[in-house]
Amino acid sequence: MTAKTRILQVGSYAGSPTANDRLARAYDIVELWKYPDRKAALAEHGKGITALVTSANYGCSAEIINALPDLKAICSWGVGYETLDIKAAHARGIQVSNTPDVLTDCVADLAWGLMLAGARRIAHGDRFVRAGQWGQVHGGIPLGSRVSGKKLGIVGLGRIGEAIAKRGLGFDMDVRYHSRRQRDGVSYKYEASLVELAKWADFLVVATVGGPTTFHLINKEVLEALGPTGTIINIARGPVIDEAALIECLESGKLGNAALDVFEQEPKVPDALKANEKAVLLPHIGSATLETRKAMEDLMVENLESFLKTGKVITPVEG
Ligand code: 8YV
Repeated sequence: MTAKTRILQVGSYAGSPTANDRLARAYDIVELWKYPDRKAALAEHGKGITALVTSANYGCSAEIINALPDLKAICSWGVGYETLDIKAAHARGIQVSNTPDVLTDCVADLAWGLMLAGARRIAHGDRFVRAGQWGQVHGGIPLGSRVSGKKLGIVGLGRIGEAIAKRGLGFDMDVRYHSRRQRDGVSYKYEASLVELAKWADFLVVATVGGPTTFHLINKEVLEALGPTGTIINIARGPVIDEAALIECLESGKLGNAALDVFEQEPKVPDALKANEKAVLLPHIGSATLETRKAMEDLMVENLESFLKTGKVITPVEG
């Protein structure tokens, strides 16, 4: 029997149906999260490791990369890669892969779920019924707002942004977008100014990448431009929105509603948001369906296997 290839796993795949078992069956895994002293574990087990697996939330720091002298591939579970030190990896010629495309539809679906839940007060209504507060046939919670036919602004027209926009057409919405660059070959109107897009939109969906380039891109000025009848939806990364400004705008009535799957300090959610009926709050579940999590797992493992067999990952992050 040939010895199993040793690989490093940064964290446990709690959100994936079979990833931990599957990896453990096929490889000799160094389970980094189980070691209280990561530095010592890397020094003891790091030599000879050519590939590691991680995820968008566990990331891969320069500290890990530098402690693995033979590392040649980082295979991540998830599409976001702002937590992976791509620069440090590429400087050493280390390939990095993520899991694009397979989660696009489910994340876009969830953006729509959030939009409808916020505008039509679905989450609020559910709490209301469960709390036994439904005392008369009509009324009880404030009226919601119509979604069909309204104006939809998308911040970041990548794969996920485009899938959200496409669903907007099914709701007869007028769709516009803002991104770093205008995209060729799309029919949606480009708005160079984010504030102007927010002023125009009824619903503003954040679908950008995370990381320093988009930190607090959605600031007080943008939220105020969206205004008292506007709804902000975020399925991207928490730090793209200035959360303190968001709370202030919701509390003062300068912003209508917020529907959020991501937060600045996950899994911490500010009490002020929890207490606000104008906010819909989810625990970062954009990709959390059985089908999509399985597909992410498959693609992460395929990248790893491809690297070990051919020396090349399938879906590299260019960075
Ligand atoms: C994951 C995500 O839930 O793919 C991403 O970038 O945000 C989600 O699909 C998770 O963050 C992966 O670690």
